[in-house]
Amino acid sequence: MDQQEWTRVVEAATRAPSIHNTQPWLFRVDGDRLAVRTDPSRALATLDPSGRQRVLSCGVAVEFAVVALTAAGYATEVDVLPDAGDPDLLATVAVPGRYEPDEEDGVLGQAIAARHTERAPFLPRAVPGELVDRLQATAGAFRVWLRPISGADEEVATVFLLSRAEEIEQGEPEYLAELERWMRTDPTAVDGIPVGAVPGEDPATRPSNWLVRDFVVGSRPAGRRHGLDPDAPPPEVERPAVVLLGTDGDDRQAWLTAGRALGRVLLEATAAGLAASPLTQALDWPATRAQLRSRLSLGGHPQMLLRLGYPAGDRAPSTNRRPVPDVLTFAG
Ligand SMILES: Cc1cc2nc3c(=O)[nH]c(=O)nc-3n(C[C@H](O)[C@H](O)[C@H](O)COP(=O)(O)O)c2cc1C
Repeated sequence: MDQQEWTRVVEAATRAPSIHNTQPWLFRVDGDRLAVRTDPSRALATLDPSGRQRVLSCGVAVEFAVVALTAAGYATEVDVLPDAGDPDLLATVAVPGRYEPDEEDGVLGQAIAARHTERAPFLPRAVPGELVDRLQATAGAFRVWLRPISGADEEVATVFLLSRAEEIEQGEPEYLAELERWMRTDPTAVDGIPVGAVPGEDPATRPSNWLVRDFVVGSRPAGRRHGLDPDAPPPEVERPAVVLLGTDGDDRQAWLTAGRALGRVLLEATAAGLAASPLTQALDWPATRAQLRSRLSLGGHPQMLLRLGYPAGDRAPSTNRRPVPDVLTFAG
């Protein structure tokens, strides 16, 4: 593969979602091998002191690189955490030869550019059970479990912990300061979350049980915070499928693998016409994360809570990425 082809692969990898769009990754190509590192200088010290969500974000980037290589007709071999003495080296992706991609490989490859986080209310249309089953099988191939939050009890417990976590976050000045550092009003900013990508209204006033993260708390003009218009017709209620992804272990390897599974789940969901948004507030805090484990009687560790549904319009991705030369180097 030449440098141009590797650049295209890394461009695809960087379209991965990342916590607060921090893009906490670095890539290096040496011959027929791509090394993916996490960049600790882009860590979120308050929200993510263990680096769990940072490593998970990089896991998605690893999988997007694999999907892009496969769609371009290359075989891949992934080696996870290949150097015990260098834990920031998360994975290498080697290209041992050519591969004949099938139609599905091509469809997944195309989904990379179309996928984005969709926080707007979804259409009031249920996600078919077979589709959720398929995503479950996809995650299962990585030994990552994907569990729909179903039944009133589970939903009430999860929604309660989401609200509780959001409440903790809104009362935590360091959390709010960190969030503000990653919000962007300049639409050409190459990282962080553009204000246009998040709801301007208070998420708590939505006709939905599922509370998306409030990114602009504190800067919302008074009067926009509370209350739906009492004279407006009752809004349609979205019916998202909410799924929890998790792993048996809870170390770097588990976080990275959860990220890889998430990457493939998101691409398959996109290809099937779905959109998604992570709802990770309840997993940010050790206490609410542990409560979620016990309230849902989980054997393992929750890694990602995902809201899935049919988007209400044709939206284009609205978050930018750092230019590839800022994150990719070539050996030699
Ligand atoms: C580990 C992880 C956690 C995230 N948590 C949230 C969240 O709690 N709420 C939310 O709205 N978006 C969340 N996101 C989505 C990111 O904000 C989003 O991926 C990033 O801004 C880039 O935008 P894009 O996904 O549209 O490309 C999360 C993403 C990752 C990878």
